[in-house]
Amino acid sequence: MQFGVIFGGVSYEHEISIVSAIALKDIIEAEFIFIDKKRDFYLIDKSKLKSKLFSSGEYTKMPKLELKKGGFYQKGLLKEKRVEFDVAINLVHGGDGEDGKLASLLEFFAIPYIGPRIEGSVVSYNKLLTKLYLYHLGINTLDFQLLHKEKIEPLKFDYPVIIKPCHLGSSIGVSVVRDESELSYALDVAFEFDNEVIIEPFIEGVKEYNLAGCKAGNFYLSKIEEPVKGEFLDFEKKYLDFGRTEEVKEAELVPGIREQMIESFKKLYEPLFYGAIIRVDFFVHRGQVYVNEINAVPGSLANYLFEDFLTPLQALARNLPKPRAIPIDY
Ligand code: DAL
Ligand code: MG
Repeated sequence: MQFGVIFGGVSYEHEISIVSAIALKDIIEAEFIFIDKKRDFYLIDKSKLKSKLFSSGEYTKMPKLELKKGGFYQKGLLKEKRVEFDVAINLVHGGDGEDGKLASLLEFFAIPYIGPRIEGSVVSYNKLLTKLYLYHLGINTLDFQLLHKEKIEPLKFDYPVIIKPCHLGSSIGVSVVRDESELSYALDVAFEFDNEVIIEPFIEGVKEYNLAGCKAGNFYLSKIEEPVKGEFLDFEKKYLDFGRTEEVKEAELVPGIREQMIESFKKLYEPLFYGAIIRVDFFVHRGQVYVNEINAVPGSLANYLFEDFLTPLQALARNLPKPRAIPIDY
């Protein structure tokens, strides 16, 4: 199975996507298609896929591509030359990759892909919609308040609280606020990135766990990991972590917690996330499991969490959801 990994993109998570691609390059058979910040596509020589290639701008010497019906084609050649792969992988994090725009393009041009479909992207990329989705499914999640840049209302929670831009990933713009004196700065930071922010109570000593998986016939689930000890996973910690290669230890959990996480994972996966490997981040507090967020294009596809990553990836590629109610066969 040959994959076509699409990475880069124009979001704040551009560099993280590069780290993700580097993490996958020795694991899967793939062509690598880079989207630069000008929205141009390039076919990247796998042997040169290192972060310096991008920071130096050297990638621009590689073949430029265009996206057309059925695939990516080299630009400027007399004879049409398609980048050969069976299934694309959406590895673009943040806006464009995770919010449904890339999914729409791939579907429009009839390119089979691994990654969230349009609806799952829209729901998981918007923290308000994620909350509403989880409420609808009866899955525990922390209470929240939504603030708009133009309409700042008094907080409905006691301190400490955590403030997050409504639409970003990788903890960008996120702060823990311990008292009123820290509030306006934290709001300014979050509003730099987004017009809406989500506020949640910040629970001291809360435990965080990650579980990744997909359904392709049956469910394939990863180990459950307790990622780091710390206040919360900040940008740098997450960024560096996605490229890691060391073996992940299964978290030690009291009886029942693991089952609750798996049950929530399966429940939220089924309606909207067919075709994707997702990572769900959980909180556990006083014996209760809460879903914190759904990462529909997780860093390096969370490959490091799986005992055997290729089996679910290939199973997914063979069981992609067909576009519904559209008379296209791919
Ligand atoms: N948004 C990043 C890539 C993640 O949480 O996995
Ligand atoms: Mg995330």
